Amino acid sequence: MTTTTENTTVTGAVGSARTRVEGRDKVTGAARYAGEIPFAELAHGWLVLSTVARGRIRSVEDAPVREMPGVLAVLHHENAPRVDTAYMGMLGPPNPVVGIFQHDRVPFMGWPVALVVAETSEEARAAAEALVVRYDEEPHDVGFFAGHAGAYTPGEPAMEQADTEKGDLEARLREAAHVVDEEYSTPEEHHNSMEPHAATARWEDGRLDVLDSNQGTSWVASELASLFSLDPSSVRVRSEHVGGGFGSKGLSPHQVAAVMATTLLHRPVRVVLTRRQMFSLVGFRSPTLQRVTLGADTGGRLRAFDHQSLSLTSTVHEFVEPSANVGRTMYDADAHRTGHRLVRLDVPTPTWMRAPGETPGSFALESAVDELAEKCGLDPIELRARNQPEAGPVSGLPFSRRNQLACFEEGARRFGWAGRDPRPGLRREGRWLLGTGMAAASFPAGAGASTAAVTAHPDGGFTVGINAADIGTGARTAMVSVAADALRVTPDRIRVRLGDSDLGPAWIAGGSMGTRSWAWAVRLAADELRELLALGGSVPPEGITTRSDTSEAIGALAQKERHAYGAQFAEAAVDVTTGEVRVRRLLGIFAAGTIVNPLTARSQLVGGMTWGLSMALHEEAVRDAASGGYVNADLAGYHVAAHADVQHIEADWVDDHDPEDPVGIKGIGEIGIVGVAAAIANAVWHATGVRHRRLPIRPDRVL
Ligand code: MOS
Repeated sequence: MTTTTENTTVTGAVGSARTRVEGRDKVTGAARYAGEIPFAELAHGWLVLSTVARGRIRSVEDAPVREMPGVLAVLHHENAPRVDTAYMGMLGPPNPVVGIFQHDRVPFMGWPVALVVAETSEEARAAAEALVVRYDEEPHDVGFFAGHAGAYTPGEPAMEQADTEKGDLEARLREAAHVVDEEYSTPEEHHNSMEPHAATARWEDGRLDVLDSNQGTSWVASELASLFSLDPSSVRVRSEHVGGGFGSKGLSPHQVAAVMATTLLHRPVRVVLTRRQMFSLVGFRSPTLQRVTLGADTGGRLRAFDHQSLSLTSTVHEFVEPSANVGRTMYDADAHRTGHRLVRLDVPTPTWMRAPGETPGSFALESAVDELAEKCGLDPIELRARNQPEAGPVSGLPFSRRNQLACFEEGARRFGWAGRDPRPGLRREGRWLLGTGMAAASFPAGAGASTAAVTAHPDGGFTVGINAADIGTGARTAMVSVAADALRVTPDRIRVRLGDSDLGPAWIAGGSMGTRSWAWAVRLAADELRELLALGGSVPPEGITTRSDTSEAIGALAQKERHAYGAQFAEAAVDVTTGEVRVRRLLGIFAAGTIVNPLTARSQLVGGMTWGLSMALHEEAVRDAASGGYVNADLAGYHVAAHADVQHIEADWVDDHDPEDPVGIKGIGEIGIVGVAAAIANAVWHATGVRHRRLPIRPDRVL
């Protein structure tokens, strides 16, 4: 079931399956990642990270290392260029970790303390490993689950509201026929993109030129300009191919280190992060401790709703994992309360990761809703259907389009939900206990202002310039389809340029807003070009270019609750002798607006669902309280779902489109993961009769 709108069916490229335009380059190796692009005179930087969790740097003993083979420079807090971290960036104030080598304080294990630059990567690494840094160590605290005594209410600007409250919660709970009041927890999780972060910086004709792997070159360029007090026009950032980001690829210490070093050495400098360094330098998802309290009447209607979430931040910067936000749009009640608290610990600052807020929040909330359905004696889908709000429970705003029920219906039909015996622990197949579970999903559908340029060439071809980021999702291919329909030409006549800050500002590949934001800008410029060309006349050698800027159109959007929706279904088998959980089947049905390219969209949704399975069963970063560092900062110790963990995953969608978007898009970047962990935990309960309120559901916790 692909989706089209009356606006976009001219050629039908939008909604038709198309293979990636850069697919051949990728499989033949012609597509290069940021760390693979050759340069003459390239020097290599290797970051040295602190080995203590808190304290001061007493000395960096760089003299012996400077004599080592190939070493060109050793940068640290006593000799590095000064930078300005007191600016306001596009997404808030900068994370202080990008202000590298500015002082002697160490706020966490893995803080950058030096950069060794050498002729080769191997020489840089050898010297970095030989560098002796001495510290005055101070006591540290990294214990999240023990540490909520010092919790406080966050005031971070990115957090719209830490708390919301309406009605008398205690009174409604006293009257409720059924109450669920439970704690849920999720561990610290890491993005672990396949391609590690890498940047090459150089000065070229008076401009800073950075080849990078990121989720938005306009974003990274503007942050670098602010940090180094440069005119924005003198900074160019390119990011052509990106091997995953998941929220972690913005500005990080490695780009800053590369810029510092190239400025001092007058030659290109590349800094690549190791997998281990990524654990402390590019953010992560905070662990969460959530309490959900639900009170329902005898008919299963929610009368009281409370979702409180605790997460952590560092001592140097505030970031909130907004887990309680999901209930602000999903379920209403006479009394409704949500809240966030933070604890400050001697750890790196967390950041956005794979549906920040909704992912851990939906685990807690959709598990609690399942528990409530059990208490009410209602089918979990029926309970949810009875609790669909008419308007935003907190905002009071109308829903733009809430196609949640269609997802339930289609999902139930496809999964074979009808006739399910709700009683747990009854189905057995040899040593396996079998169960099924489901959960609802939602994710905000937003758009960010973007600019685009579309050029008609005399040979009948078109070039689309949009500073999109293709982080593996198929952004180029999607923009080809959008432009083809607007221009009413076949897709083979369109070439897309992206990933270059010189193309002008555009929204990032983030917040599930990339495709919608870029398509909007491309659509406007292409519509104008088509109208111009329809007037007749020949196309001059330099072509005809139209430009768009969506700031005004997006600013004029009416205030509404805009979301994509989904229903997640899982079948789990639990080995009663080993505690192993096998997810035999996952089905996700989504209402996520116009699906631009069904082929890449399905891959992206299946990818999101795979991450949900990974979260439910495997992912867990473990900190050592004594040292303050990780014990599993690699893909051996931090297991992400591999092929052997995934059996059958299916993703599909119902007809849906956003009536106020020119292409009808809502966004699919993150909704695939939302609700999956709850659906699996609910299936494990149905199999075993045991609720798992703490992730991951490891074999030792099952037994
Ligand atoms: Mo995403 S966590 O919006 O990159």
